[in-house]
Amino acid sequence: MSSLTPELLRELVAEARHRRGLSITALTTIEQPLSPRFAALCSFAIRDGVARDPLADHVARRMSWRGKFAGSSGDAAALAQLAVCDNVICIRDRDAITEIAGWADQAELSFVRGDDYRHELLDWMRLSANHPHYLHDGLNRDALGMNAVEATAARFVLGGLFKPLDRLGLAAPLLADGGKTASACAIVLFCRPVGEDPLTTGRHFYRAWLEIGRAGLAACPISALADHPDCNERLRQLGKIGAGLRLVNVFRVGNPAKPRKPRHFRLPIERLIV
Ligand SMILES: Cc1cc2nc3c(=O)[nH]c(=O)nc-3n(C[C@H](O)[C@H](O)[C@H](O)COP(=O)(O)O)c2cc1C
Repeated sequence: MSSLTPELLRELVAEARHRRGLSITALTTIEQPLSPRFAALCSFAIRDGVARDPLADHVARRMSWRGKFAGSSGDAAALAQLAVCDNVICIRDRDAITEIAGWADQAELSFVRGDDYRHELLDWMRLSANHPHYLHDGLNRDALGMNAVEATAARFVLGGLFKPLDRLGLAAPLLADGGKTASACAIVLFCRPVGEDPLTTGRHFYRAWLEIGRAGLAACPISALADHPDCNERLRQLGKIGAGLRLVNVFRVGNPAKPRKPRHFRLPIERLIV
């Protein structure tokens, strides 16, 4: 649609969300960057007469839950609902969850030990409220669930102090997230067919996250578990994932220990779609 302006797109998306029977049905991208300015080419088709997407109501409630989980009497029913959803495998065994929590910390540390990884991560973080992009993009303190003291500590631990702390064996405990992962009521493995185009995989990933919300649970992705080849293989075995499927990502899920306040920090649509 050559005349699709950001304003029109915004209206169409708003229509699609609010009026029953209207939905976006197609979206394609070219994977190779088109130019330094444009990352992808998208085309949209809007079709009338489609039933409202049952996951639409969960978009506003979805967030990355970075805190601990508190066990709840509703966990079993929520996991039973999630277990029949497409593309997910739930690991509920408590010993397995505790073991996976340790793998996650080891995997994360192995990536954080890479200088380029740490620099990119810090570049992407907005650890001070004075950062000029604090509300616009990246990972700010609110999105990371950190207070000012924790954010200052993170800047030092991931910055100039990382190597000395790592030599003293202190970086691992300072960065560990194992307690949060171990508090989950399940570890969810998200799988998609090998060779699928990344955009389709991404759409299913988002829908799986919304399904977790529909089941009444909160989630936080633990990408290091899927990105680390050894952990990926161990989880494939644990989840009995068939050869035709790729373990794309992993979530810890559960009942949040505190009330959730979803707030998202995104570039305005005008900056994303030109
Ligand atoms: C594909 C993908 C992978 C992610 N992996 C991680 C991760 O490994 N660790 C993490 O803490 N958050 C991870 N996140 C969560 C993002 O950091 C999060 O979406 C971002 O902070 C925005 O917050 P929101 O999800 O609450 O809108 C991931 C998100 C996506 C979409």
